[in-house]
Amino acid sequence: MSETDPQQIPVARPKHDIVLRDHIYDGIQEYDQRLPNWWLWTLYAAMIFSFAYWAYYHRTEIAGTQETRFQKEMAAVMLAAASGGADLTDDQLWTMSKDPTVIAAGKQTYVTTCASCHGPDLKGGIGVNLTDAEWIHGGKPTEIISTVKNGVLAKGMPTWGPVLGQTRIAEVAAFVLSHHSPPQ
Ligand code: HEC
Repeated sequence: MSETDPQQIPVARPKHDIVLRDHIYDGIQEYDQRLPNWWLWTLYAAMIFSFAYWAYYHRTEIAGTQETRFQKEMAAVMLAAASGGADLTDDQLWTMSKDPTVIAAGKQTYVTTCASCHGPDLKGGIGVNLTDAEWIHGGKPTEIISTVKNGVLAKGMPTWGPVLGQTRIAEVAAFVLSHHSPPQ
């Protein structure tokens, strides 16, 4: 085949280190290059990072596994709750709302103290529904605590602060929160 042969499909003339594969489909010929170094390095870096991440978070106690970090956070929360609970933050209360022990304790208080008005399934009765997204006095954990503590006497919600004390109020609030999910 000469260069002027009309049958010959024109292909890129190899220049520098451009390597072409032999086959031609529909007149298209593929490059067969080595991947660029910057690309290869992002791959190697991702591999090294993923191994380090796995080792750090899942295999060693340096950062702690998800489980031990949760336990540590819970211990801090319970300490705050035991010392009066006044300083509990929204985040800490959300954390409490995921702890089965706290939920069980809160449920016990709820059943004996709140269910008569708010219903056994928290769906309301004399008192309002506590599972929906509608809050008259705010649905943030600290707002719920303050409603339960101070009550809404004019509307028939008793003042629970002196009756239950901080710890049981925090627990029952955590139980109510366990029917909700934290804002993303
Ligand atoms: C005697 C009846 C009664 C009991 C018992 C009672 N509540 Fe209430 N609760 C109400 C009423 C009525 C309201 C609505 C207040 C309003 O309209 O402002 C209310 C409101 C609330 C709210 C605010 C809801 C909102 O939308 O902001 C929370 C939270 C709450 N109650 C939690 C509790 C918890 C926890 C207990 C148990 C410790 C409890 N209540 C016991 C009657 C009761």
